[in-house]
Amino acid sequence: MASGQNLAEKKPARAVWSGKMGFVLAAAASAIGLGNLWRFPYLAAKYGGGVFLITYIILVCTFGFALMTAETALGRKTKQSAIGAFSHFGKKYIFIGILASAVPFIITPYYCVIGGWVTKYMVSYVTVGASELGTDAWATFAGFITGTGPETFLWMIVFIAVVIVVTALGVKNGIERANKILMPLLIVMAIGISVYSLTLPGAIDGLKYYLIPDVSKISIDMVVAAMGQMFFSLSLAMGIMITYGSYFKEEEDLEKSVRRIEIFDTGIALLAGLMIIPASVAILGSADAVAAKAGPKLMFGTLPEVFAGTGSIASVLGFIFFALVFFAALTSAISLFETCTSIIQDGAKWSRTRSIIVCSVFMIIVGIICNLGYNSWIGIDPMYSIFGIGEYQDNQILDFMDFISNTILMPVVALLTCIFIGWIIKPKEIADEVKKSSAFKGEKLFNVMIKYVAPVFVVLILVFYVLNTIGIVSL
Ligand code: PFF
Repeated sequence: MASGQNLAEKKPARAVWSGKMGFVLAAAASAIGLGNLWRFPYLAAKYGGGVFLITYIILVCTFGFALMTAETALGRKTKQSAIGAFSHFGKKYIFIGILASAVPFIITPYYCVIGGWVTKYMVSYVTVGASELGTDAWATFAGFITGTGPETFLWMIVFIAVVIVVTALGVKNGIERANKILMPLLIVMAIGISVYSLTLPGAIDGLKYYLIPDVSKISIDMVVAAMGQMFFSLSLAMGIMITYGSYFKEEEDLEKSVRRIEIFDTGIALLAGLMIIPASVAILGSADAVAAKAGPKLMFGTLPEVFAGTGSIASVLGFIFFALVFFAALTSAISLFETCTSIIQDGAKWSRTRSIIVCSVFMIIVGIICNLGYNSWIGIDPMYSIFGIGEYQDNQILDFMDFISNTILMPVVALLTCIFIGWIIKPKEIADEVKKSSAFKGEKLFNVMIKYVAPVFVVLILVFYVLNTIGIVSL
């Protein structure tokens, strides 16, 4: 993107991503984050390993491809963010843009809570060292997040502060450039950790669990989880790719860029699974134990134990690893925060400074509420069991927010986007936009997905999910 340019700023002549890979790199920096490193492994571990993996890959190559192409082309065509892009075709469609825009407001606060956990671990490898963090790592981590002090709140605020400072100073591009070096480093490290963890006794069983699909593990919950993860990880169904597409040059190959982002993003998620799942099986003893225990705590319960086993280099390894995760999370959180800020700025017609302040206060308040689910600092006992919805571990507030955005809102936004493109403006609008820059090789797949398969799939999946949850059918 033109350097120093801010997504939130409205320019008479819209800025464009600079450089050949400008769009791909900026979109990848936004897409690759905690979704790949923290969320994907725990979902894969929880929902049957190989069967989740295959389902996820199929969804990315079909539904994900169609939706990402549609959103990016919609942005490039209208040169607007989500709300403007939908209302460009008629005021009555604005509600799709509004619904999509609600998603980042739900995700960002809990994203920052996890960002705080990562920050804490990064710093703790310097201050307390690997042996303390890695001794009975699950219990150590549980002690941290359920502790009675203000610690988790403070780490979340530290993470949010870094996000705000980077956004306010407009140095986001510098961070993204740094990411070009840090991302490859993260990949090298993840490969190294994966190879090392495969030497742990029992890890090969974990590898088999992760890679070999077991059809008896197919379930409706698994498919819903894979679909939500696809939206989350590729930053779809929340307006982001529309905004990114609005800065995308007409002459650049849109289809190839979409494929590249998908490959980057999915490759890193698969690697993160390889790094965490076999090691978790080695530590917890069996794939069943991992599936039963897998949840938001998986990464923090497993990796510190893996690092602790590496002897004298353990603390250095742990620090470098969590620093890399921190940067990946930071670029994603900045992109989320900027999106929320620009929605407030455009919607309320406030100044950028005022919008940043309001957005920051919102993130901190909702982040604190999320934290209260685990923590009993101010005497509110962990606020477990919010309406008891979903089979979410501990029924935490964080899980509940994740459930609302990924299992409800995003599928609904995706469905509405498919109907809007497939049946209202027609897929040809999008195909013509894609063809401005190159041949559209996947046009047939795109048409069939956006018009028929994706909407029918979302409706069926959601209906069966509800029936399954209330016990009318058992899948
Ligand atoms: N896709 C990011 C991840 O996988 O961590 C999350 C995300 C970042 C969603 C930025 C939306 C966004 F604008």
